Amino acid sequence: MITLDPTQITYWFNALRDLPENERTRALDAFWAGQIDSKVWLVQELNKLQTTKPADVYIFGGWIGVLASIMLQSSTYHINKIRSIDIDPWCEPIADMMCKPHEMNGWRFKARTCDMSLYQYESTPNIVINTSTEHVTQELYDDWYNNIPDSTLVVAQGNDFFSCNEHIRCSDDLLEFKKQNHVTNPLFEGMLDTHMYRRFMCIWIK
Ligand SMILES: C[S@@+](CC[C@H](N)C(=O)[O-])C[C@H]1O[C@@H](n2cnc3c(N)ncnc32)[C@H](O)[C@@H]1O
Repeated sequence: MITLDPTQITYWFNALRDLPENERTRALDAFWAGQIDSKVWLVQELNKLQTTKPADVYIFGGWIGVLASIMLQSSTYHINKIRSIDIDPWCEPIADMMCKPHEMNGWRFKARTCDMSLYQYESTPNIVINTSTEHVTQELYDDWYNNIPDSTLVVAQGNDFFSCNEHIRCSDDLLEFKKQNHVTNPLFEGMLDTHMYRRFMCIWIK
């Protein structure tokens, strides 16, 4: 079950309120039903699999921190810390505001600006998430994937939304998604119909 805390949600609105008009419209893209449903789906499936072990979580292509915020509110296991990594520097202050109480709590949450393929882990990751696999080339994805320590729990999402200009590595179906993303023996694999496109997700141990 997903539980959202009204106090945390006020920080979502603070993050939006702080933005100039044109940037606010851009940020609102992160709140389309399909985006939220995909994140809720991820958190729910991860809750079923993750043990009670405290987790250091790394989210790549973390955008403005919606997934991180939902995870911090609704995860049934203890999250030690979350790092939300995005190549676009515009995302960092917005994501930090979205998760402000956790950012102020000794950086339990912190957004970072970095290319996912170049990121140096701050600690041994327990959960590595990439919800932006359709935004990167195969070569860049492979570099990012090779940098994840073996035995780490990996969660990846992609989609078949080929008509979006920013999507350069979509998948026709779940089978292709698994192949492109090097999914082996998935603990979970599934597809979510958002009406506009289909979202694919796999969870596996690298
Ligand atoms: C539109 S957003 C998120 C889309 C995704 N479907 C989701 O809901 O999480 C894609 C994000 O990936 C980020 N991104 C693209 N290439 C990246 C890279 N090489 N390293 C880190 N982030 C990247 C973009 O800056 C953008 O914020």
